[in-house]
Amino acid sequence: MKFFIDSAEVAEIQDLASTGLVDGVTTNPSLVAKSGRDFIDVLREICAIVPGPVSAEVTATELPAMLEEGRRLANLAENIVIKTPLTPDGLKACKALSDEGVRVNVTLCFSAAQAILAAKAGAAYVSPFVGRLDDVGSDGLRLIADIVEIYGVYPEFTTEVLVASVRHPIHVVEAARLGADVATLPPGVLRAMFRHPLTDKGLAAFLDDWAKTGQSILNRPEDGATDGSRPARRSA
Ligand code: E4P
Repeated sequence: MKFFIDSAEVAEIQDLASTGLVDGVTTNPSLVAKSGRDFIDVLREICAIVPGPVSAEVTATELPAMLEEGRRLANLAENIVIKTPLTPDGLKACKALSDEGVRVNVTLCFSAAQAILAAKAGAAYVSPFVGRLDDVGSDGLRLIADIVEIYGVYPEFTTEVLVASVRHPIHVVEAARLGADVATLPPGVLRAMFRHPLTDKGLAAFLDDWAKTGQSILNRPEDGATDGSRPARRSA
């Protein structure tokens, strides 16, 4: 399963990319607004940090302007993926841009029927929003199961299922269990995935016990250490 970061905060993306666990990034107009920065500057900086796919969303709602915006954004960097909304014009833009060799992420997907349309339009990714479905009393993960099952029936559907609107690690675990290709994670969710109180407790106990032994793995007598903690300077 690939992990994308769902953010337009460059420092945050840089920090998480250093884990080696980040395969790509998704942005949206709300995240850009939250960053308070120029969209194009932000995209250039993200693309320089993360070599994987970086989704940039068009904001036009009619086909000609969508295509113009999509082409402009796609020219910014090799790894830009254009996000179009799941509307009739968004799908037409998806088809046209895909035919030109631009990868498209069809966003704001809330039903299996819509996901079928995105695959037929040649989308590289479809983004079902699990958290927003859960918010209105629907089952977001049920939608992931449906899309994965349907796409699995048709080998000609090459669209990857990109789980979006992720709210907590359980969404990620269950999406992985269902075989989703990608999850785009708010930074806090990726950070939360590392944490377990028993890991912290276990590590503290190991370190306490290790300190009692007085040993060191690196500063050893055979390395020239004289007292087990400070290595003697080797002569050249
Ligand atoms: C996906 O690409 C979207 O940017 C995102 O996941 C939306 O999530 P939200 O429902 O938390 O805004």
